[in-house]
Amino acid sequence: MPELPNVPGTEPERAVLDSFRTAIARLVSDALPPLTVEQAYQGVDYGKKGADFTVAVPRFRLSGKVDELAKKVLDKFQPNEWIENVIHDKAFLHFTCRTPSLARLILTQVHDLTYNTESHQPEYGTNTSGKGKKAVIEYSSPNIAKSFHVGHLRSTIIGAFLTNLYQANGWEVTSLNYLGDWGTQFGLIAVGFEKYGNEEELQTDAIKHLLEIYIKVNADAEKDPSVKVEAAKFFKRMEDGDESALVNWRKWRELSIKKYAEEYDRLNVHFDEYIGESLVGKEWQAKAIERLEEMNLIEDHEGAKLVNLEKWKMGRAVLRKKDGTSIYLTRDIGGAIERYEKHKFDRMIYVISSQQDLHMQQFMKVIKLMEFPWADRIEHINYGLVLGMSTRRGTVVFLDQIIQEAASVMHEHMRQNEEKYAAIENPEYVAQEVGISGIKIQDMAAKRQVGSLNARVPLLTINNYTFNWDRMLSFEGDTGPYLQYAHVRLASIERNNPQLIPLPAPAAINTDLLVEPSARDIIFLLGSYPDVVKTALKTSEPSTVVTFCFRLAHAISSAWETVIVRGEQDVEKARARMWLYLCTRDVLGAAMRLLTLRPLERM
Ligand code: ARG
Repeated sequence: MPELPNVPGTEPERAVLDSFRTAIARLVSDALPPLTVEQAYQGVDYGKKGADFTVAVPRFRLSGKVDELAKKVLDKFQPNEWIENVIHDKAFLHFTCRTPSLARLILTQVHDLTYNTESHQPEYGTNTSGKGKKAVIEYSSPNIAKSFHVGHLRSTIIGAFLTNLYQANGWEVTSLNYLGDWGTQFGLIAVGFEKYGNEEELQTDAIKHLLEIYIKVNADAEKDPSVKVEAAKFFKRMEDGDESALVNWRKWRELSIKKYAEEYDRLNVHFDEYIGESLVGKEWQAKAIERLEEMNLIEDHEGAKLVNLEKWKMGRAVLRKKDGTSIYLTRDIGGAIERYEKHKFDRMIYVISSQQDLHMQQFMKVIKLMEFPWADRIEHINYGLVLGMSTRRGTVVFLDQIIQEAASVMHEHMRQNEEKYAAIENPEYVAQEVGISGIKIQDMAAKRQVGSLNARVPLLTINNYTFNWDRMLSFEGDTGPYLQYAHVRLASIERNNPQLIPLPAPAAINTDLLVEPSARDIIFLLGSYPDVVKTALKTSEPSTVVTFCFRLAHAISSAWETVIVRGEQDVEKARARMWLYLCTRDVLGAAMRLLTLRPLERM
């Protein structure tokens, strides 16, 4: 291939479309001095009107008429191994890349970065833009002894994706689960446990048993105010570090984490650290209040301390109750400081439902007022509510119930085709995996936010979405099961064509034979995957990756009938096509794993 200049910020050895863009940028800058290659590169966008790439000439703000400028580029143009053709249409230049070059370079890159990496892990799609940077991502964060609701599930799904996404962009990531394991409700549970606690039930399912107790004791407290007083006293003892008040709590916490970890594991979600509100050091909470006092932002209200954020239209918020105990906000402030001391993060992300927007604004405001140099490294990733997610019987809802429900619905569905069902080795596992994929994809296909980031004034509103069991489980339409199905179909090619295996080394496969437009579409999409990984990081939108998966799945199904492998008489052609499909399987698999799915080989 003809040599190209090096454009800073590009990584052709990981994203070969960068090379094609650079070839276009060089041509444009050669034709239009004083435009530099770097400047021209910024103007190379994905193609409109069937082109691979398009340049809008006016964006360079050069002197001269657009038509004349465009003509200069056309005059300079010589077809080469990178670019085959350029068309001028109004303000635009539309470029077509050379198909054999695309095919050879993209498939080779997919192959090498899947199978020949130093890490021995598939790396296609990743980049090193975040090298040396450290992200702390907090997500899921359920409350022990309160139910794990759909808001937590959505935080779990989005947060696990973001963890993968930051890693794919070269960041070092620490993932945290910040349990709601502290607060007055534990005083309540302690009081309730004396009355309703049962050791055996606690051991079997701590989460469930503690929630039952919580519900009962809450009902008691409604009727009898002394229960609350009792509970507050108990919590005060906990805050003061009274060991006898802490023994039970410690056990509840441990058993709950154990149970949660099992369920996270089924969801393919893992945390580096289980921390919690209980572990936030008191000294930082105290320092925060001191500092705010110096700034005259603290008000006394009957012995309680409040921070006044009226100036910023964020109201007043309690930081310390009159009995001296801390609250949620105080712990978040202290916790952030501690996390910075420990991780020295370049970015810290909180994945929390938009129901807590005000809390997060107050929290971030206080951190800013305290003038920490890292204050603006904190980011709240919010999302709308999931409406209507309960089991089909209408009862809400533990995490494990949701998973079981999804699995059993899928299992029923699979049983309808007896023949196919009999061929599956471990139908329970497959049913569960497909079911979970359905939940996750429905969730991540729904944009977190609607509106445009590009608008001068960003118009973003939080997007609530309605969960739909039927839609989630459908194999048709853009669903999780459909993606799993597309992957299984690609994975079956090797099994169905043993005569072609093993394929020769990439250099011995004749990719020039991949001439069908639908094959080309697939190849170009594969080439675009590294861009998808970068774009998703800018918006923290999983839907960017979900959309890519569906585009790829659709492109595959269009090619399936015409670009055949089995039945193709020309062995060389059959091999090239098979390689294309295997590379496609690898990229679809990578994108699905980025979305925390476990791509299936059979179903
Ligand atoms: N446990 C909280 C809840 O369920 C969510 C915690 C979010 N994280 C935080 N740092 N405030 O509402």
